[in-house]
Amino acid sequence: MINIFRIIFLFLISSCISCSQNINTTKKVDSKAMVVSAHPLASEVGINILKKGGNAADATIAVQFALAVVYPSAGNIGGGGFLVYRTNDGVCSSLDFREKAPLTSTRNMYLDSTNKVVKDLSLYSHLAIGVPGTVDGMVNIHEKHGKLPWEELVQPAIDLATNGFELTRLEADKLNRFNKTKGSINKNSGYYKENYSEGDSIFLPQLSKTLILIRDHKRAGFYSGETAKMLVKEMSLNGGKITLQDLDSYHSIWRDPIISFYKGYKIISMSPPSSGGILLTQMLKMAENFPLRDFGFHSLKSIHVMTEIEKLSFADRAKHLGDPDFYNVPEKLLMNSSYLQKRSDKINMDSTLLSSDIYAGEFNLKESEETTHFSIVDEYGNASSLTTTLNGSFGSGIIVDGAGFLLNNEMDDFSIQPGYPNMYGLIGGEANAVEPSKRMLSSMTPTILEKDGNLFMVLGTPGGSTIITAIFQTIINVIDYDMNIEQAVNSPRFHHQWYPDEIKLEKEIAKDSNLISQLKAMNHQLNFVNSMNRVDAVIRKGNKLIGGADRRGDDIVSSY
Ligand code: DON
Repeated sequence: MINIFRIIFLFLISSCISCSQNINTTKKVDSKAMVVSAHPLASEVGINILKKGGNAADATIAVQFALAVVYPSAGNIGGGGFLVYRTNDGVCSSLDFREKAPLTSTRNMYLDSTNKVVKDLSLYSHLAIGVPGTVDGMVNIHEKHGKLPWEELVQPAIDLATNGFELTRLEADKLNRFNKTKGSINKNSGYYKENYSEGDSIFLPQLSKTLILIRDHKRAGFYSGETAKMLVKEMSLNGGKITLQDLDSYHSIWRDPIISFYKGYKIISMSPPSSGGILLTQMLKMAENFPLRDFGFHSLKSIHVMTEIEKLSFADRAKHLGDPDFYNVPEKLLMNSSYLQKRSDKINMDSTLLSSDIYAGEFNLKESEETTHFSIVDEYGNASSLTTTLNGSFGSGIIVDGAGFLLNNEMDDFSIQPGYPNMYGLIGGEANAVEPSKRMLSSMTPTILEKDGNLFMVLGTPGGSTIITAIFQTIINVIDYDMNIEQAVNSPRFHHQWYPDEIKLEKEIAKDSNLISQLKAMNHQLNFVNSMNRVDAVIRKGNKLIGGADRRGDDIVSSY
């Protein structure tokens, strides 16, 4: 009975896919090159760069700048992110262009004199803003991997900002929400209008000028000169901490990606200061100890086991993960197979472990509502997986006066007080405490998979803490449940992060009332949500590329 329900459910998912606006994605199975991003105009910019002979790195830079214009809730030049890159000869690298705490940051900067957290200070104030990393990151990517001239990669974003672009329905709704709550700040930036409708054009002259400076002066167009002066003025007039010295000293860093294996697939993902790669490795390695395929997709046993695994991993995240330049993250121990076997041995198939009975593993520490993701594969076989964010939707909501770009509120990703939850409900302690120049811990998980030494899949998603579990489940959907990439990204998802002690489930899963009552009988607390994540992915089968653009947004595949 349950199996019949599941078959009908998968059928409904596929029909839902074929009636969505991204209907064209399945047809593009013989593409040579592909861009999957959260916005049609950004995907188009990327594919045009590839058609001109640019490679995946060139398209990455152009898409990042285009998103900063057409997708202001998350696309950015005032935020940061992570790139995982694989060249066609199999060399993998990853770039950390995460924001940093300003030099004068202090551990208790979000507490009042009685040591209580001051509400919203780490989210919606000038103190919420980390030193942006995006522009330095793009310059670094260009220097290492770029092929086309830098100017040609920034120009499409300038054109969009100068000549205007039309809003999609979802973008018009988001801007209306933003303008109602935070848009009173810097109204002359071009982002403000009483009420936007689908199809309205939007022009961003200030942002266009800033992008021209970046086009003409690269790093110096942002971290010094006019843009830097405007940013620092914005800070000093409003109690922010970022100085010219902070901007000048910001540098993105190439780091070794986290490499692990799952059922013969090589997983290449992001290292700390993102928790993504390590947690994904933990989850997949623990999952290998259970017959998920036999359990079946969204069966009671598979949801139970996967959420227990997620819980155990997030307990380790809270204690052991932070910026590796400041904290000795026990990477190898956290990913050690016998440690993870012991962790997964704790899982009881008949009832759930209470979060209060789960602790992070103990080691002898001797070992030395917005983000966006896009996946690109070029016709030469290079692959790029990039996730970028302002943290909350439209970040801090603060737009640099005169320079027209939104600033992040990434400081909230620090553990601002031990045990105090951030905006995604994540808790932490010493490893992720605020320190000057430190990078705040992230969950962003841009990932690339190889099979038999060849590129197999490129994927990532926004969603705060739910990023890691969405990537975990999408990989399981493909490898264990034999789903095609569209089914894999569009299937409903569930999520557990240790605290709060509840499973978040997308509402579609609630339709299986039998499953829900059985989960409750096992003592799982359930919290139904409308929608989680937008996974954007590319799969390579032989010489064919197949795109998966999440039905939950405007996400779209462009290819040729
Ligand atoms: O780095 C992180 O983990 C968060 N700042 C990401 C925020 C995010 O994904 C928001 N998306 N909906």
